[in-house]
Amino acid sequence: METKFKFAQDLIQEAGSFIRDEMAKTLKIEEKTQFDDLVTNLDKATQDLMIAKIIKNYPNDFIFAEEDGVRHSVEHGNVWVLDPIDGTVNFIVQGEHFAVMIAYFEDGIGKFGLIYDVMGDLLYCGGGSFPVCVNGKPIPRYQDTPLNRTLLGTNAGMFADNYHGIRDLAKQTLGVRVYGGAGISMTQVMLGHLLGYFSCIQPWDYAAALIMGENLGYTLLTIDGEKPDFSTRQSIMFVPKAKLPEIKTYIK
Ligand code: IPD
Ligand code: CA
Ligand code: CA
Repeated sequence: METKFKFAQDLIQEAGSFIRDEMAKTLKIEEKTQFDDLVTNLDKATQDLMIAKIIKNYPNDFIFAEEDGVRHSVEHGNVWVLDPIDGTVNFIVQGEHFAVMIAYFEDGIGKFGLIYDVMGDLLYCGGGSFPVCVNGKPIPRYQDTPLNRTLLGTNAGMFADNYHGIRDLAKQTLGVRVYGGAGISMTQVMLGHLLGYFSCIQPWDYAAALIMGENLGYTLLTIDGEKPDFSTRQSIMFVPKAKLPEIKTYIK
């Protein structure tokens, strides 16, 4: 597993360096389901690059990736879950605050996860039998903090609608922060900079953080408190396990 974990770290950094090199060229931007659901030629080219390297090195492994309908269930065999650019809107508009994400599963068991903040050059990785580190430095486990000394990460629409009581929970904290990328938001939870992250996202958006978070005292559940299904878009929360009972008094 160590060789595979090292391969994944090299791969995600190569993907990031490819994006940094290519992003100065004119992007081809397409709308997917609606005007704010965007994909670029670089999302697709980065995914292609990652898949080609995985299949060359591990020809019997499977892929579950965001673009072009590449979908193999994480439950069966050795499966790589890929989000080539998480925060594509940030990537297009800001040219920063986006990430590449990888999660690796064997028969449904998460073995490691990686989130690479490309422009910040910050690699968060670990989980399973590996310590969770940022650029090689171990991240401490969750340390209990009262709600009124925390900030909450949330999807802006869900906050505005007080979806399942998210605004009620936010009112117990010092405020909300909206980063515009699931991956980068969840790294902020793991660092203890956010109490939690609430959003409506897909398996490739949450897989890496779920695996890493388990080693640090966090849990990723649907807003109803169930395990996510790893196949559809769901409303999720990524929160400290120790805080779940208190959070559930606000989240209905
Ligand atoms: C999106 C981002 C965004 C979240 C969306 C995701 P993408 O991923 O993580 O923050 O609100 O639901 O789809 O499309 O940029 O990979
Ligand atoms: Ca994503
Ligand atoms: Ca993406």
